[in-house]
Amino acid sequence: MPKLLPIRIYGDAMLRKKSKEVDIDDPYLKIYIPNLIHTMYARDGVGLASNQVGVELRIIAIDPWWGLEEHKKNPRVLINPEIHHREGAQVSEEGCLSLPDIFAKVPRAMKICYSYQDQAGKRIEAEAEGYEAVVIQHEYDHLNGVLFTDHVSTLTKLMLKRKLKDLEAKARDGVNIADDIDTEP
Ligand code: NI
Repeated sequence: MPKLLPIRIYGDAMLRKKSKEVDIDDPYLKIYIPNLIHTMYARDGVGLASNQVGVELRIIAIDPWWGLEEHKKNPRVLINPEIHHREGAQVSEEGCLSLPDIFAKVPRAMKICYSYQDQAGKRIEAEAEGYEAVVIQHEYDHLNGVLFTDHVSTLTKLMLKRKLKDLEAKARDGVNIADDIDTEP
């Protein structure tokens, strides 16, 4: 049975760290990756980056269409992802499991060319656009310690200030939104 991992919230230093390259032969991945996927769905996320569950590895799980009616679970795991090219622009409302109850309009590239390693270690080249591209850019940012609130306008930042401060205070108190359920990876 995969385990539910506790999610770090805004204010936790882990969310600001640049994650490390993954050694594809690390046996830990076989246990860890199912837990990452399980946690993404359990928390109703369309994406989850490893540092959000306290693991400093360049691994993200995504399922952009999760939540759409009749969509079956289709998790994808991107290991050591790289975004090689960005073009065009779009703005859409984003949220994040590490920033509960905070939503804001975020500018992103419309289309990206990216690559990643799959769980067998094979490097795969791919393209994404629209909403899928938003999800990948958002999760990729996490691996570099960047949060969606870093991209919003100064006015939006001002409006979010109070809520962010409250989250930071909670993080300082060691409160974690999944503390009540399960612990260690
Ligand atoms: Ni996020």
